[in-house]
Amino acid sequence: MRLDGKVAIITGGAGGIGHATVRKFLREGAKVVVADLDLERAQSVVDEADADGFAGSAIAARVDVSSYPDVVALVARTVEEFGRLDVMFNNAGIAGGRPLLEQNPEKDYYPMIRIDQDSVYFGILAAAHQFVAQDSPGVIISTSSIYGESAAENAMVYGAAKAAVISFTRSAAYELGPRGIRAVAITPGRVNTHMIQRLGSELGELFKSQQVSGKLTEPEEIANTVAFLASDDASAINGTVVHVDEGYSA
Ligand code: NAI
Repeated sequence: MRLDGKVAIITGGAGGIGHATVRKFLREGAKVVVADLDLERAQSVVDEADADGFAGSAIAARVDVSSYPDVVALVARTVEEFGRLDVMFNNAGIAGGRPLLEQNPEKDYYPMIRIDQDSVYFGILAAAHQFVAQDSPGVIISTSSIYGESAAENAMVYGAAKAAVISFTRSAAYELGPRGIRAVAITPGRVNTHMIQRLGSELGELFKSQQVSGKLTEPEEIANTVAFLASDDASAINGTVVHVDEGYSA
């Protein structure tokens, strides 16, 4: 069990990638806080895991990741429950977008920047304070996207937020690396979750055809990567981007 006894926060833990990562972490022996805006769904992820009898243990917590006080309170709750924090997975997010000329900042820009960009800065900041306070380094993994590195239709704001995730990660590694803290960003391509499924089968087929493998990535495949990056097996990986995109960026 690669994550035996490690304490992790997984934001967006009730969603597709988060849910799969919670289950993977619990199988690997971690103690997990399943953090999401939707407490009811987060609690059902915990209940399902309890019923499956995994090695690790989990609690659910409601958080709005676009609020710094909420994220600080989430870290405090984690420490209260499990005594420390070892892994922060900044993963909650929303997708979407419209053509630039149809956009207005109040509707199209600020809300997405708050949820997809500010949240990651908040998560890095709150986790870094905890790692320093407990005098023991940890790992911060944040979910970017292929759109953080290349343009796509209707993805100007989403792409900018996801590019910021990569930049935050690089700076965090640069500044915190000397303390033993690692920060890594992942860029999934098209993952088989609600975020993609809600777009319908026509777009789903197009997305598959744009990935070299010809398939969508299953959330469990992202979870496997996150578990590796969180483990000591990835001790030399810091400040970089790990592409989990079926060759989209090849
Ligand atoms: P999902 O829609 O299944 O899950 C997202 C979760 O985030 C939901 O449970 C939702 O309740 C939660 N959430 C949304 N706003 C929140 C807030 N303000 N505070 C707390 N929780 C909030 O989506 P999925 O696919 O699991 O996405 C996870 C991450 O992966 C997102 O950051 C997304 O941008 C990223 N991503 C997803 C890809 C895909 O193809 N599905 C591709 C590349 C990146």
